[in-house]
Amino acid sequence: DIKGFAFDLDGVITDTAKFHTQAWHALAEQVNVTWTPELQESLKGIDRMGSLEMILKAGDKQADYTHDEKVALASWKNNHYVELISGLTPDDILPGMADFIKELNEKGYKAIVASASKNAPFILDRLQLTDSFVGIVDPSTLTANKPDPEIYVRAAELLNLPPEQVIGLEDAASGIQAINGAGEVSLGIGNADILHDADIRFDTTADVTLANIAAKLD
Ligand code: G6P
Ligand code: MG
Repeated sequence: DIKGFAFDLDGVITDTAKFHTQAWHALAEQVNVTWTPELQESLKGIDRMGSLEMILKAGDKQADYTHDEKVALASWKNNHYVELISGLTPDDILPGMADFIKELNEKGYKAIVASASKNAPFILDRLQLTDSFVGIVDPSTLTANKPDPEIYVRAAELLNLPPEQVIGLEDAASGIQAINGAGEVSLGIGNADILHDADIRFDTTADVTLANIAAKLD
């Protein structure tokens, strides 16, 4: 029986994925790396420094910057990103997600946020969702990033549930891999070609309800 839900944030609860994209694209231009749809998709779910390394690698420029210069580039991106998300309001919650989270709360399911983003507490606050979750996994305490399962293993521990009683929700392939590796049920939201390893999948957040999930788990 499912008793808990572990939510990715960017692209699942709110469309901040588009702001990450905008800020990384600007950074890629600054370091003269060609932006492609494949590079864009591959960055989803990847932590800040990991994303920077992937962009530099795409342009064969990983060796062109010192560690300190990379830290400066990552913080330039983050400043740009924080500016873009500073005006978020509850209206920016993705379609259906506010109702779904409310439904979980009302029916006694426990929910937690499992995002690689260090901006997650700020974003949840802006969306007025902080109190809807029992907590947020703190990514700074992790030793490995998605697709490693660690973040979802930690989420189940904090929910105090065995992994098989937890559904993880993700919009990125790296996240689906992490959920599967943790032994939880993976729920993908988005394109079937990208989320082919998800146990269950919906096209959009608007389709995610307890009834629709139950129907797919049968
Ligand atoms: C999420 C997003 C990634 C982002 C990462 C780190 O996983 O999907 O695009 O790079 O969080 O976010 P941060 O806000 O800490 O830079
Ligand atoms: Mg995501």
